[in-house]
Amino acid sequence: MSEQQRLCPLADIPEGEARGFEFGRKSVVAVVRDGQLRTYLNWCPHLGIDLNFMPDEFLDMDRQFLMCANHGALFEIETGECLSGPCQGESLVPVPHEIRDGDIWVTLVEPPL
Ligand code: FES
Repeated sequence: MSEQQRLCPLADIPEGEARGFEFGRKSVVAVVRDGQLRTYLNWCPHLGIDLNFMPDEFLDMDRQFLMCANHGALFEIETGECLSGPCQGESLVPVPHEIRDGDIWVTLVEPPL
């Protein structure tokens, strides 16, 4: 069953920044780039674990890619595709979102088995 959750006001995520949100065993990363919001499960396709070690630390040093802190996989922000690293060619799992009254709402999805 799909489950809707509120993340935060869209205005709370500045351009070029990423934030993480936890909901029990699932977590979501939200990133804004070129004015576009993208939301993915915080789930690395390499080992199926969280991408980040530190809260809200999801971007590489140049802030061009989402990065997995475990083994350095780099993911294109726009598509979630892994461009380099041990899961190259695989992708982050997109999380459907909508903006309601300025707030970001997501529909939590299950990671692939
Ligand atoms: S767990 Fe993400 S790159 Fe290995």
